[in-house]
Amino acid sequence: MSPFDYCKNILIADEVSEKLLPFTGDFERESKSRGSFKVDQPSRAIRFAFSQEQIKFPKSNSLKVIEQRGKALHFFANHELLAIEMMAQAVCQFRDMPLRIVRSLMGTIAEEQKHFKLYESRMNDFGVEFGDFPLNAFFWTYMEKIETYQSFFAVVSLTFEQANLDFAKHYENLFREIGDEETADILAVVYEDEIKHVAKGYSVLKKDSGEDIWNYYTELLPRPLTPARAKGITFDKQGRVLAGFPEALINHVKDYKSDFNITKRKSWKS
Ligand SMILES: [Fe+2]
Ligand SMILES: [Fe+2]
Repeated sequence: MSPFDYCKNILIADEVSEKLLPFTGDFERESKSRGSFKVDQPSRAIRFAFSQEQIKFPKSNSLKVIEQRGKALHFFANHELLAIEMMAQAVCQFRDMPLRIVRSLMGTIAEEQKHFKLYESRMNDFGVEFGDFPLNAFFWTYMEKIETYQSFFAVVSLTFEQANLDFAKHYENLFREIGDEETADILAVVYEDEIKHVAKGYSVLKKDSGEDIWNYYTELLPRPLTPARAKGITFDKQGRVLAGFPEALINHVKDYKSDFNITKRKSWKS
């Protein structure tokens, strides 16, 4: 089986268990002559289907309640599954992606599958099954706006995964504070892997960016996405340093204020 066929199966398979199967195929079977394959949305069995129903992420002070903890992990697991599906779509859609990048992305998919399983098994400890709460397609909605593999890495690795450095670190600390070492340890694993994923995205963009990676990165982001989405509740500088970011890039992200925030701030001042 080629990476293309494997990824296609992730997109058309209904069951989560099928989307989590390991890749046992052969990279050399990847044929560039094959056309691209694109879906509007990945297939999901009714139980895990995307829902329009909006539910709120549990407040930090509610995480002492077991059910709320399960709900938080349910959100995290959905993000992992979306990452798997979006990466699979990228392999199927952007056929000019060099084989070394395909290979690297397939390694990332395997780690996202590991993260999903860790979150799923922990939420089961809290009495929650995947599919118990409505699942949103928020991250997926950007796929239709992404036209190149460089743009894909700008959106997924340098924006959503970069922000996840902050979120993973924040929630690791939070779970440790409430004495839930087991959940905190899972977030620590995710954090360590996420550094690698962000580093991979950075190296893809760096190769083509010339001198000014910040400019290149922001120009690759489809509207209305901005670098405001590349950071979370707290700013984890260390993770970005470990991902290989130069100081200037870290500062650009840290200091970035979206137009929305600036407008809000002006009106607040007046
Ligand atoms: Fe992940
Ligand atoms: Fe990741």
